[in-house]
Amino acid sequence: MPVIPFSDPTALRVAAGILRSGSLVAFPTETVYGLGADATQDRAVARIYEAKGRPSFNPLICHVPDPESLVPLVHCDERARLAMAAFWPGPLTLVLPRREGCSLSPLVSAGLPSVAVRVPDHPLALALLRECGRPIAAPSANRSGSISPTLAAHVVASLGDRIDMVLDGGACGVGVESTVVDLTGRQPALLRPGGISRERLEAVLGALVWDVDNDVAPHSPGQLLSHYAPSCPVRLDAVSASPEEALLGFGAAGLTAGATLNLSPSGDLVEAAANLFAMLFKLDAAGWAGIAVMPIPDHGLGLAINDRLRRAAAPRDPRQGFIG
Ligand code: TXA
Ligand code: MG
Repeated sequence: MPVIPFSDPTALRVAAGILRSGSLVAFPTETVYGLGADATQDRAVARIYEAKGRPSFNPLICHVPDPESLVPLVHCDERARLAMAAFWPGPLTLVLPRREGCSLSPLVSAGLPSVAVRVPDHPLALALLRECGRPIAAPSANRSGSISPTLAAHVVASLGDRIDMVLDGGACGVGVESTVVDLTGRQPALLRPGGISRERLEAVLGALVWDVDNDVAPHSPGQLLSHYAPSCPVRLDAVSASPEEALLGFGAAGLTAGATLNLSPSGDLVEAAANLFAMLFKLDAAGWAGIAVMPIPDHGLGLAINDRLRRAAAPRDPRQGFIG
């Protein structure tokens, strides 16, 4: 796996080509190294989760080179424009409502109706985003559970055998991840403290709701259940469906059973992850009384797929959504 220094004149063109082909490139930002994939390709985004070994689908940050690139992707209100003008490029991530029909993979949002976006303050990251011409989804470039990398060597140690290229831009200046602020509600909410302080944010946005424990991170998955399910009931480990139910299949068994849709006829878990949210949305929209899902192997990306499906199938509290 090549580690290419920033000074190499061909590096950006090669890296952008790898990203557009659906593979992974680690690159420096001002906060930490990111593990990048083309945010518009379901399979490329699924590969991020596979490489990190994440046991669940945590939504990812989409990186863009400038605020204008967000116009087709998300809805920006006055607060968003103020925050962008004050802090971008820089270590601030804004969670904004997704535009319906936008080109981003639903896997980037882990099925949520919002997207986290930021413009990084790093010349190499910005040059890569411009050269690639697509929004780049990038979590920190480390295996799940390890610390975030601030040197190319950290990325190689953690993920070297799992990714296609590392762009080496030296040490990251900020060293902690971006601050995450949710602007989808009435009052701005701080979801993750980071590179921009609460005080600086409040000077621009007014009082922030402290919502750190309600982050979409895996510490508190129960809080998120209401975001994660189709409107109809979901039944797991099904071998067949009733006449009112759609059957969501996996592998050859799905073909034999005549599944309505198949997450991966060949039994490929990366393909299944890439299809998961889009297929659930599609079956839900088609008005079936329920979705019966065939068993998914519980290894590799199957862990994250099954985590997501268990949330979707969790018992529902009529007042509060889901109780899990
Ligand atoms: O500094 C950073 O932000 C780095 C660099 C590479 O940009 N990226 C990073 O990504 O830290 P990641 O995936 O490790 O963290 C993303 C954070 C998580 O806490 C996630 O729950 C939150 O952003 N997040 C992403 N999308 C969200 C959404 N739609 N709603 C709420 N929270 C979201
Ligand atoms: Mg991280």
